Amino acid sequence: MTSVPRTVVITGASRGLGLASACELYKRGWRVIGAMRSVDAGLAAIRELTGAATGDPCLHGVQLDLTDARSVDAASEAIVDLVGAPDVLVHNAGIAVAGFAEETPPAEWHRVFATNVFGPAALTNAFLPPMRDAGRGRIVVVSSTSAVRGMPLAAVYSASKAAMERWAESLAAEVAPYGIGVTILLAGTYDTDLTHDGAAVYRDDSGPYGPQRPRMEKRGRMAVRLANPPQRFARSLARALERDRQPIVHRGAGVDAKIYRSVARLMPTIAMHHMIRVGLGQPRFGTLGASGADRPATEGNA
Ligand SMILES: NC(=O)c1ccc[n+]([C@@H]2O[C@H](COP(=O)([O-])OP(=O)(O)OC[C@H]3O[C@@H](n4cnc5c(N)ncnc54)[C@H](OP(=O)(O)O)[C@@H]3O)[C@@H](O)[C@H]2O)c1
Repeated sequence: MTSVPRTVVITGASRGLGLASACELYKRGWRVIGAMRSVDAGLAAIRELTGAATGDPCLHGVQLDLTDARSVDAASEAIVDLVGAPDVLVHNAGIAVAGFAEETPPAEWHRVFATNVFGPAALTNAFLPPMRDAGRGRIVVVSSTSAVRGMPLAAVYSASKAAMERWAESLAAEVAPYGIGVTILLAGTYDTDLTHDGAAVYRDDSGPYGPQRPRMEKRGRMAVRLANPPQRFARSLARALERDRQPIVHRGAGVDAKIYRSVARLMPTIAMHHMIRVGLGQPRFGTLGASGADRPATEGNA
């Protein structure tokens, strides 16, 4: 008797962590549905990396733009028609913007939240009825260390990932009675387009935050040099899908993410603030404000 492969829907399977995850899970015997903006290019990339043949029933691509409600509806309908209730839905697709909170235009807040929060929530809602009927399923959200504590120069992204986590936790409590679980997978730093200039950047070098920026950017570039290959993330995801049976699971993907999660749990907020400040090379409290820059040295602002 041949067993039916489990089905996973992965958003943003065209590049980066999503592409690596689609390939890893396909190779491990999952039926993979890549939900992507560029289906042809995404499928071609997965086939090239896995050797999957055109027409392989274990590999499908479905068009999805998370910022377009009609696309979300059409994608979920197409997937349910194709495979019924998926066993797993992985919310991987996401975008980031870089910039100080005050300098990031409101339109970018909308764009990031539409992609990272509203789209995934709508897509999930579309899959919940068949998952409930099936009495099983797991929803995975790919989060970031930026969700654990607000990260300077990434306020919009941090806020969106934190919102995604809190939404996923609320959802976990609501859907658990129907046999549906949630995993929040906190990704460390991985070598993808997102970490290499893939994010829109807002900057005003002559503005009030100009003096902070060069050092912070330099430290950021140093951190990216330590980024892990996306395949490592994919293996963490695959292990999570094989192991997670609890209604809600928080996991780190990557040693850096695991350490960061533990530190954030143990450290008081002010200690985390200073750790991030020192890590990013930011000036001390008050040293750039009028009362700081102009304060005489005797007042101890060194
Ligand atoms: N890389 C890291 O170090 C890191 C760390 C923590 C968390 N993460 C998270 O991991 C996830 C994947 O990131 P990545 O590094 O792989 O980024 P990436 O290489 O930039 O890939 C992003 C993916 O999201 C898709 N996407 C963007 N906007 C979309 C939309 N409106 N509708 C549907 N798909 C859309 C992209 O599709 P197109 O090809 O069509 O643009 C692409 O497939 C994100 O949620 C990110 O926040 C990454």
